[in-house]
Amino acid sequence: MRKCKIGIVGFGTVGSGIYKILSSEVDSHPILKEIEIAKIAVKDLNKKRDIELDNNLLTDDPFKLINDPSIDVIVEVMGGVDLAKDIILQSLKLGKSVVTANKAVIARYGEEIYKTASKERVYILSEAAVCGGIPIIEPLKRSLKSNCIKRMVGIINGTTNFILSKMTNEKADYKETLKLAQSLGYAEFDPTADVEGHDAADKISILSELAFGGKIKREEIHFEGISKINLKDIEYANKLGFEIKLLALSERGQINSNDSLALNIWVGPSLIPKSHPLSTVKGVNNALLIEADPLGEIMLYGPGAGSGPTAASVVSDILNLHAAKEKNNNSVDPLLSFDFWRNCHITS
Ligand code: NAP
Ligand code: HSE
Repeated sequence: MRKCKIGIVGFGTVGSGIYKILSSEVDSHPILKEIEIAKIAVKDLNKKRDIELDNNLLTDDPFKLINDPSIDVIVEVMGGVDLAKDIILQSLKLGKSVVTANKAVIARYGEEIYKTASKERVYILSEAAVCGGIPIIEPLKRSLKSNCIKRMVGIINGTTNFILSKMTNEKADYKETLKLAQSLGYAEFDPTADVEGHDAADKISILSELAFGGKIKREEIHFEGISKINLKDIEYANKLGFEIKLLALSERGQINSNDSLALNIWVGPSLIPKSHPLSTVKGVNNALLIEADPLGEIMLYGPGAGSGPTAASVVSDILNLHAAKEKNNNSVDPLLSFDFWRNCHITS
């Protein structure tokens, strides 16, 4: 099999995690030899880094990677919206498949990105964009396909669950704990996205599009974060037998005569009985309960953020698309593409 040459845009928490997997796990996991890092783009070439990189490997111009004919796959782990969207779309238009961990871009421009990938007969995979290390996107696209999804509810932001868990178990200070989450690489570059609920709203938007096969208007999702929750709230909740968690919910309503589907989608701090499985989800872990017909109820659980788990999702995407590309000789595998087929209306 031909090697898959990748260009990585971003060498922060996730980018450096990808590099570590591909440089140190190869002996114990030989399939990783199929991937070769050709170039890495960063913002600041002079930044002191924990991992020393050969200068020839680095550039501060992401478009150099896109235009390099020897690179097969662009891995966007830079974050942000506008530049990341340009990088993804230009890569696809130049016939390069893309793997991204960027929920903010997929939640806003997923339709345009998926359609471009389909048109150009290349792939876009984004398993790491929702819940870090937990396989959620691929199960929704493939293994759960025969089911009618009724409802999804869960904890889908690691930073806020880390903060709330520490406030609950150790009476930790909110601001200090947020700083700790940032230093551990859990939080977004601008942590407002985590604590005010934007990140969870992006993720539930992506999950809803996959589960209900529709186009969600991200700006219509109601969301609220945890910045107003204090230790007194947590203490009262505890006395009453509840935990406070930042929940995201998406549930199916009725199908209208024009074939549009009504959905109730919502993100906000919630009281959960201590006996409920979601209240046992602690620290940076995430969990998503899915109710589906005829399956019943399942819960996907695991690390929702952090370098290793997130990078593992990205590397699996790269391996999967490399295998699919080799097998299909560049024709698009329908299982890896995604067709939008209906408008969804968010009800309040
Ligand atoms: P990060 O630690 O802030 O790293 C961002 C990287 O992008 C840095 O290496 C930075 O370069 C580089 N960069 C920024 N602007 C650039 C530009 N204009 N040109 C080239 N490189 C640029 O971010 P992260 O935590 O790894 O997150 C990356 C993405 O993964 C985000 O979309 C995030 O939402 C997503 N994600 C993160 C996690 C997580 O646990 N952290 C989990 C799931 C998904 P410098 O190093 O020179 O500053
Ligand atoms: N900042 C995000 C979180 C990273 O804390 O969940 C994973 O998407």
